Amino acid sequence: MSSEPGAGTITIEQVDAPATYALRAQELRQGRPVEIDGDDAPYALHLAARLDGDEVVGVVRFHPRDCPWREGEGSWQLRGMATDPRVRGLGVGRALVAAGLTRVQARGGDLVWCDARKAAVGFYQRIGFTIVTAEYDLRPVGPHVGMLIELPIR
Ligand SMILES: CC(C)(COP(=O)(O)OP(=O)(O)OC[C@H]1O[C@@H](n2cnc3c(N)ncnc32)[C@H](O)[C@@H]1OP(=O)(O)O)[C@@H](O)C(=O)NCCC(=O)NCCS
Repeated sequence: MSSEPGAGTITIEQVDAPATYALRAQELRQGRPVEIDGDDAPYALHLAARLDGDEVVGVVRFHPRDCPWREGEGSWQLRGMATDPRVRGLGVGRALVAAGLTRVQARGGDLVWCDARKAAVGFYQRIGFTIVTAEYDLRPVGPHVGMLIELPIR
């Protein structure tokens, strides 16, 4: 898919994990290893948003994993979600998650969940996720809440 927020054209594509590492390191993993468990697993789905077909300005990973708060198969976890501060608020994060949900559904997934940082809860709510837990601490980052979205989106 593509869209034109601001000064350039954004395209969303599936990539290998290392293509997501620079932005992950900058926005999410300060002082921690940039790799997340399972990055190389065969079913790990990494997406990147590229600006004008080049620079990576958004990243996210989806991976099959049981949901801690819902029984059943077909659950995928969203992790490693970040956009470059220069493009925030322009729909890049939404486009990445939408592309991921479409792909997860095509692979038979019926639920996507995440540990949402408190500062990002409003973003996930805007794109259709629901809060399903009380607040909990995930060190070293801090307060999170559990959020999920069921597929297909109605
Ligand atoms: C959270 C983050 C991924 C959002 O990315 P983005 O590219 O700015 O998101 P979008 O522009 O697609 O936003 C989609 C909608 O959510 C809203 N939104 C974005 N971030 C928000 C936030 N932190 N709180 C409330 N609403 C937010 C946007 O205004 C937009 O609203 P609209 O539907 O009225 O247009 C980005 O701010 C980020 O990388 N933050 C730092 C890393 C981080 O916290 N990642 C999440 C870890 S759980």
